[in-house]
Parts: sequence; structure tokens; C-alpha cells
Amino acid sequence: MTRILILDGHPDPRPERLGRALVAAYAAGATKAGHDVRIIKVADLGLPVLRTAEAFASPHPPEEVRRAQDDIRWAQHLAIFHPLWLGAAPALLKGFFEQVFRYGFALSPDNPLARPLKGRTARTVVTMGMPAPLYGLAFGAFGVKALERSVLALAGFWPVRRTLLGGVGAISTATYGKWLARMRALGADAR
Ligand SMILES: Cc1cc2nc3c(=O)[nH]c(=O)nc-3n(C[C@H](O)[C@H](O)[C@H](O)COP(=O)(O)O)c2cc1C
Repeated sequence: MTRILILDGHPDPRPERLGRALVAAYAAGATKAGHDVRIIKVADLGLPVLRTAEAFASPHPPEEVRRAQDDIRWAQHLAIFHPLWLGAAPALLKGFFEQVFRYGFALSPDNPLARPLKGRTARTVVTMGMPAPLYGLAFGAFGVKALERSVLALAGFWPVRRTLLGGVGAISTATYGKWLARMRALGADAR
């Protein structure tokens, strides 16, 4: 049994988003396999924008931030879902990380290599309009790598795995079904 935290990073709260179906499939696969699952839906949080270095270093974050930190400490595996917006994670999700992965929780101000969240694994699942190989080949997948390396790996998550799902505007029913099955399998494996 693995404690899995799913981070639904879509800014649009409506249920008909592709990302939401992927989250539901991943959660269903994980729950069916006996894992313990929690979900944070970033669109439902009312987090303010982080504006100062002092706020980033403050040990007294807003209550919603503290609750998210508790969920991340609880989790052994973090599965992050988001659409690709302008080559990277949507601003709302980036803002979540700026608020939650602050000094004292995910980073040590004294030792940049302390990796306070080590012992945990992660996966990013990113949907996009362009074909997924194009994002890797022509754009270097830099936006996704920034989250994986400069945020997750730096905090101690390892390995950080990745699923890129592209061409979302033109997928067939068969591909859609395959993607959901893939998410159920990943959830069942807690990967
Ligand atoms: C504001 C915005 C920016 C986007 N930027 C990109 C982009 O840079 N590259 C890309 O391939 N698709 C881009 N897209 C397409 C989305 O990635 C795509 O619509 C989304 O992954 C579909 O999933 P959803 O139904 O969960 O929103 C963008 C869409 C929006 C609304």
C-alpha cells in the first residue's frame, strides 16, 4: 500500500477537462489496487500570489498552504497533472508551488542540497495541443523539466517520472480509452 497524493493542477474547475478524466482514472486505479489516495484540486484553492522573499521564508503560511504541506509530508508518491500552457505549467499551479514549496518545508535556506522531502517519488502527467515528441524535440520539454528538476528533485523527490500526452485536439475515442487505461495502470502501480 502506498500513500498517493494527486495534484490536479488544472486552473479550470469544470469537470469536462481532459486532465480531470486522467486524474479520475489514475485515482480509480490506485484505489482499486488498495493504495491510500488524497487529491488536491488547485483550482479549488484560494491561494494568494507569493510576492516577497520574506513571505517565501515565513514559517507561518496561510492555512491552505499548511494543509497542502501536511498532505505532501503524508504522501510517499506525488502525481501531478496539468495542461501545457505557453510551454509550461499554468501560472496557478506554479503559484501553488511557490506558496507550498517554501523555505523550511521543501528547501533549506542553509543547505541547498538538504532535500527535505527525500524518500518520495513523483510523476508529472502533462497534456498538450502539439504532438508530444515535438515538445521534447523542438522545445526541449524545458517547462516540464523546470518543475521536475528545480522544484521536485531539488526538494528530494526521486525518481521523477513523466508522461506527455500530445495532440489532444484530435484524439480518437480509442486513444482516449488507451490513455485512461494507462492512467489506471500507473495508479495501480503507484508510479
Ligand atoms: C492558455 C493556453 C495555453 C496553451 N499553450 C499550449 C502550449 O504552449 N503548447 C501546446 O502544445 N498546447 C497548449 N495549449 C493547449 C492545451 O495544452 C490543451 O488544450 C490541454 O492540454 C487540453 O487539456 P484539458 O482539456 O485538460 O484542458 C494551451 C491552451 C491554453 C488554454
